[in-house]
Amino acid sequence: MEKTIDESKQGQSLVLDKKEGNTRKLFIESYGCAMNFSDSEIVASILSEQGFNTTQHLEDADLVLVNTCSIRDKAEQTVRKRLEKYNAVKKINPKMKVGVLGCMAERLKTKFLEEEKIVDLVVGPDAYKDLPNLLQEVDEGRDAINVILSKEETYGDIAPVRLNSNGVTAFVSITRGCDNMCTFCVVPFTRGRERSRDPQSIIEEVNDLWRKGYKEITLLGQNVDSYLWYGGGLKKDFEKASDIQKATAVNFAQLLELCAKAQPKMRIRFSTSNPQDMTLDVVETMAKFDNICNYIHLPVQSGSDRILKAMNRQHTREDYFELIDNIKRILPDCAISHDMITGFPTETEEDHQDTLSLMEYVKYDFGYMFAYSERPGTLAERKMEDDVPEDVKKRRLTEIVNLQRQHSQHCTEKFLGQTVEILIEKESKKSSEHWSGRNAQSTVAVFPKEHYKVGDFVKVYVEDCTSATLIGKAVGYSDNN
Ligand code: SAH
Ligand code: F3S
Repeated sequence: MEKTIDESKQGQSLVLDKKEGNTRKLFIESYGCAMNFSDSEIVASILSEQGFNTTQHLEDADLVLVNTCSIRDKAEQTVRKRLEKYNAVKKINPKMKVGVLGCMAERLKTKFLEEEKIVDLVVGPDAYKDLPNLLQEVDEGRDAINVILSKEETYGDIAPVRLNSNGVTAFVSITRGCDNMCTFCVVPFTRGRERSRDPQSIIEEVNDLWRKGYKEITLLGQNVDSYLWYGGGLKKDFEKASDIQKATAVNFAQLLELCAKAQPKMRIRFSTSNPQDMTLDVVETMAKFDNICNYIHLPVQSGSDRILKAMNRQHTREDYFELIDNIKRILPDCAISHDMITGFPTETEEDHQDTLSLMEYVKYDFGYMFAYSERPGTLAERKMEDDVPEDVKKRRLTEIVNLQRQHSQHCTEKFLGQTVEILIEKESKKSSEHWSGRNAQSTVAVFPKEHYKVGDFVKVYVEDCTSATLIGKAVGYSDNN
């Protein structure tokens, strides 16, 4: 299945369980990556202590918060359009205050207050604990802003309030920020330097989720394989840590093992892996524990060594193939997905062919594919001309999307005639008579509901498929229930 992300469809308003005594109404919506959705749950938690319950109705809100994405220009345009909508609503509800959170807040800072009259509050991804103070300023009639990036903040001490949850799957954030400095990427500027969260607080969150009936977690970070806990602080300062801190440090493979052992029936996923940081002990840990799902999202961005270098990716095409070969050797049924960018500056037809041939080699289960979008402040923007014409970027994107569709079709067909274990997540979008869930490889399956319910692990016999979905029939509960 190919997945070209349309940011405009990602906005989702979030609803919070009502806390008694709370009288103010918060409307919060999120755009962009899973980390933003996860962060909004932290913000909702902080604000529930400040007298706010959430509402799904924008018109009723005392406070509107939008958690924003800067990854591509289109993502930012989507948020600007939402601000226009808030503007229209403010005419009916003049007391409504509007705040911008997340990556656009961090990137644009005070410019937001200057450019968008509707905005009263600007808060960067590391400053959510300051919201109570900032809101006080807003209540007193002043605009408020905090975009300070932190060396330590991981929000490990805040119990997120699960918003719009299916009660079955949840995100657990384990690292923040990224040190990789890929030349196209705005994330290191908007989310700051990399730091890891205390494993103890991660395990406590996982245990708490299990107690509440959750069956699957996804450990989240920009670069999860780089996870390293040595008592707090930035990853880049690890060298300065004491001997004892170094000796007792916890890396990602160890964290995975801790999670897998803490809840042996909980399905465990993680995202995102970076090829240069992924080590074989992670793959071996996956092999050791049945409850760690055999699925790796392993973005590569390009199949051309020259472009990989210009992107400051710290791996070559050969390194990547070696990693893929090792994954397939250790975990033969592991699904692999990718992120790919077409039309990075100077990309030639030959580079593009290298991307297609890399995809042929790996035969990914699915992928997220994008046309290059120049981002202000990145090294690529400062040093390179965005010289691949838009129509060429689009044509190359179509070619990789089409190739991915063929590979995805091939991958889903492999399940035909097999019985797969599915965790039921929700009703199928296309039919109220069918459930929808995923197998360990993260491929979606739909099947008649019968007597099964959300949260059940079921065995599904696969009778048919599209390039994105397995279609089948439940043949009983799986042993995991
Ligand atoms: N490591 C992160 C990556 C975040 S960005 C993670 O957790 O997934 C997600 C994807 O967006 C990247 O892998 C890349 O393929 C794409 N992307 C990032 N910057 C881009 C840009 N300037 N133009 C087009 N696509 C971009
Ligand atoms: Fe961005 Fe590269 Fe980090 S894509 S989030 S700088 S690994």
